[in-house]
Amino acid sequence: MADLLLGLQWGDEGKGKIVDVLTSNYDIIARFQGGPNAGHTLEFDGIKHVLRTIPSGIFHANSINIIGNGVVIDPVVFQKEIEGLEKFNIDIKSKLIISRKAHLILPTHRLLDAASETAKGKAKIGSTLKGIGPTYMDKTGRNGLRVGDIELTDFKERYRTLADKHETMIKFYDVNIQYNLAELEKEFFDAIEDLKKLDFIDSEEYLYNAQKAGKTILCEGAQGSLLDVDFGTYPFVTSSNTTAAGACTGLGIAPNQIKEVYGIFKAYTTRVGSGPFPTEDFGEAGDVMAKVGNEFGSVTGRKRRCGWLDLVALKYAVRINGVTQLMMMKGDVLSGFKTLKVCTAYKYKGQSIDHLPYNIEPENVEPLYTEFKGWNADLTGMTSYDQLPKELVDYIAFIEKEVEVPIKIVSVGPDRKQTIMK
Ligand code: GDP
Ligand code: IMO
Ligand code: MG
Repeated sequence: MADLLLGLQWGDEGKGKIVDVLTSNYDIIARFQGGPNAGHTLEFDGIKHVLRTIPSGIFHANSINIIGNGVVIDPVVFQKEIEGLEKFNIDIKSKLIISRKAHLILPTHRLLDAASETAKGKAKIGSTLKGIGPTYMDKTGRNGLRVGDIELTDFKERYRTLADKHETMIKFYDVNIQYNLAELEKEFFDAIEDLKKLDFIDSEEYLYNAQKAGKTILCEGAQGSLLDVDFGTYPFVTSSNTTAAGACTGLGIAPNQIKEVYGIFKAYTTRVGSGPFPTEDFGEAGDVMAKVGNEFGSVTGRKRRCGWLDLVALKYAVRINGVTQLMMMKGDVLSGFKTLKVCTAYKYKGQSIDHLPYNIEPENVEPLYTEFKGWNADLTGMTSYDQLPKELVDYIAFIEKEVEVPIKIVSVGPDRKQTIMK
């Protein structure tokens, strides 16, 4: 059996922190999709670390961390990530293993991402420009290079064929992208040599045997459900299935082997990049959330757009993923608001609806809010549920009633210790 942890909003819900907190209960932590577009932040003992492709269980002495077949790996970013871990004395070789079926992000995938976004102009997705979209396109187009290909004698020729094709495509976009491919390729092949020092595995086989041996597995999602390529706010999404089904395809774990589905959400909402965001607040409230919540992208440093909690969207995400337990993050950021707003329905074509319609562009939906009394207490030092202010307890109870799933963890700060179990 495996448990699954994923984000229910537009990413950056705090997945990294909670995986780190939960890792002591698991033998194996396995990332199932996404790539270096992710930035998962962990804080403990006064250090803060942002992980990109490496699962968030890496800091625990006894955990095995797997990068699954559904992940796309940029060897260059990966190499830097490993270097960043050097000072922590982690035995990476014994703790981190990679699926042979994971796809490789080539330097030209990054260039294609940039060319595509530039060509889109105002309609751009707001991609992190890490080459995610073009790499998944090559995967589904059956042209991609996989980690296992590195072990083949003709890897370099395969690389050349694909990179040459990409160069033709970059020219097709007819935009001005400056690059020195020879330099990028040197960096890429150097990083490939480092990648080869790690063990490549058939992760579906590994995980099957682990399950048989009674090992506990936590699958770690990246991005959030509203960025899912099928169920998100298409086309303003990422290129993978960030939802529960992605764990099955991204690791080879059978659907009937998934037990708990932990869904993580912020007590408010953020989004980075373009695309609809019904409850976005362009006034003071949004500014306060951004400032107090330090809402700047952990990968790109971009300011995250902020707004109120959207229960219509949250319910949608809970249903699609079959969430069994909720975790509410960053409640501390809402301290000090006199009144809090929660979107409980949308006005859509003149009617009030409580499901997410096909088109949630601002011209189609208007959020309808329920207001709550705020609280003033500083939550960041609180350690038990009964210390929480009554207004927050009411806020939590309302969400649980609407969404019909219990909130089991309330996070009140970025540190590992600032986590209240209910
Ligand atoms: P992830 O991508 O889902 O892992 O989330 P990110 O790491 O990108 O963004 C979450 C940010 O919020 C990080 O800077 C965390 O350190 C921080 N964080 C997580 N939980 C809390 C919390 O309960 N309160 C506060 N104030 N910050 C938090
Ligand atoms: P974590 O795992 C927040 C967003 C980008 C952009 C869109 C497509 O840290 O929660 P892409 O680079 O995939 O082509 O970008 O998705 N995005 C994220 N937003 N958190 C993430 O990951 C994200 N990964 C991608 O901002 O809008
Ligand atoms: Mg993040």
